[in-house]
Amino acid sequence: MRAVMVTPGVKDSLRLVDDAPEPSESEGAVLVEALAVGICGTDREIISAEFGESPPGSDHLVLGHESLGRVLEDPTGTLRPGDLVAGIVRQPDPVPCPNCAVGEWDMCRNGKYTEHGIKAAHGFARERWRMPPDRLVRLDPALREVGVLLEPTSVVAKAWEHIERIGRRALWEPRTVLVTGTGPIGLLAALFAKQRDLDLHVLARGTSGLKPALVAQLGARYHTGSAMDLDFEPDVVVECTGVDSVVLDVMRKAGPDGVVCLLGVGTGEPRDGVDTSVFARDIVLRNNAVFGSVNANRRHWTQGAEALGRADAGWLSSLITSRFRAKDYAQAYGAPGGEIKVVLEF
Ligand code: BGC
Repeated sequence: MRAVMVTPGVKDSLRLVDDAPEPSESEGAVLVEALAVGICGTDREIISAEFGESPPGSDHLVLGHESLGRVLEDPTGTLRPGDLVAGIVRQPDPVPCPNCAVGEWDMCRNGKYTEHGIKAAHGFARERWRMPPDRLVRLDPALREVGVLLEPTSVVAKAWEHIERIGRRALWEPRTVLVTGTGPIGLLAALFAKQRDLDLHVLARGTSGLKPALVAQLGARYHTGSAMDLDFEPDVVVECTGVDSVVLDVMRKAGPDGVVCLLGVGTGEPRDGVDTSVFARDIVLRNNAVFGSVNANRRHWTQGAEALGRADAGWLSSLITSRFRAKDYAQAYGAPGGEIKVVLEF
């Protein structure tokens, strides 16, 4: 069968093979036919050999951590043939650490977790894959076209759950939200803000085109320029760019008792002359909380599936800006900037 893979640590080793072995039963009882995988920055980091690890005993890694598939067979009877499913990315560490032991593998303490398509476990960019039934999340059949967005949505669902939990350390009546960045994570974070009926502002670079239009369709205000120039102080910031100037600005801009969630992993030129004590002062004197968030556990995947189900289907499908057939994998993974979500279809 066909599979998209890399040799981790070897730059540009991305390839599509025709003779990948069928998934082993040791990977799980449920056999799933791949429909699509989404492509994100993590895939590009793996392709450029900055990240990624083969499963033990293997010299390659099948890519793909954002999945959508259809169940072919489930001998356990948990799922039915034809069910639309996505595979949970992270597997708890085998030790396990206290968090993995209670199903909070997204908060793994010892780093021994594995991640499909990323770290020591093959991914979903292959025609068929297997998972244990409890590692699959069922999607409403109506989400056939956009269900591949569930993985990034699960990451956003976790971020929002933690924002709300942190916010409730004291009286918590948030009104304004600032989302920075209009990639898939930024737009999905904006969707969650809207679903919570918050006054939504999105700040990004582009001045025209699809991204500002999608923000407008959510009923949000779109801003460009520096967060420092905004004429309000957000109660919640979801930072999805990872760009250092944006990160620093939003940390200073959050209002009293504000919660700043960092979701972006980016690069930036280190800034000379940043006075850390000024940041500490702003954060301390306003009781601000700044935290990072990665990955998602089963609860968040379920929350993500519900959020997708409640969203406008047309808006969601506009997030998928390109769909490529598996044979055109090189184009898909090399798609130029400006795309929102690129999907590879099987
Ligand atoms: C995935 C996360 C994963 C992280 C680090 C992201 O692209 O969405 O699930 O934990 O990469 O590997």
